[in-house]
Amino acid sequence: SLDSIQLIDIPKISDPDGRGNLSVIEKKILPYEIKRVYYLYDVPSDSSRGGHAHIELQQFLIALSGSFDVVLDNGLERKVYTLNRPNKGLLIPNGIWRELDNFSAGAVCLSLVSDVYKESDYLRDYNDFKSYTKTTD
Ligand code: TYD
Repeated sequence: SLDSIQLIDIPKISDPDGRGNLSVIEKKILPYEIKRVYYLYDVPSDSSRGGHAHIELQQFLIALSGSFDVVLDNGLERKVYTLNRPNKGLLIPNGIWRELDNFSAGAVCLSLVSDVYKESDYLRDYNDFKSYTKTTD
């Protein structure tokens, strides 16, 4: 269910002399080894990204700058998360449909994922995704 989806606090080191913050992502905060890093930027506010699920890939999303919404759907229920802090990340397990929208100006979405890029890992058709979730229940 969507209950297993977690917002994870990313440790933040505030500078004692007011020089700003530093956040660090180490292996231990994620349940997988990071195999690839990519990021979305210059996304028009009326555009949506995602619109697919992954068969195996797990993903950790962070709003490095600005904000955006992540709509998650497990085939039965939907939940919306707003990411707007560089020290909070959303862990998306495999088998979840996701859509990203409402990007603010200057938003940057960092994505740390568990595998290399494989088109064969994508479910890009919502009806295929629905059938897929039924076979794996
Ligand atoms: P896609 O995963 O559909 O992006 P989003 O979910 O953000 O809308 O990828 C968009 C395009 O980029 C698609 O043609 C595949 C390509 N792509 C790569 O070539 N390598 C990658 O690592 C990723 C993530 C995408």
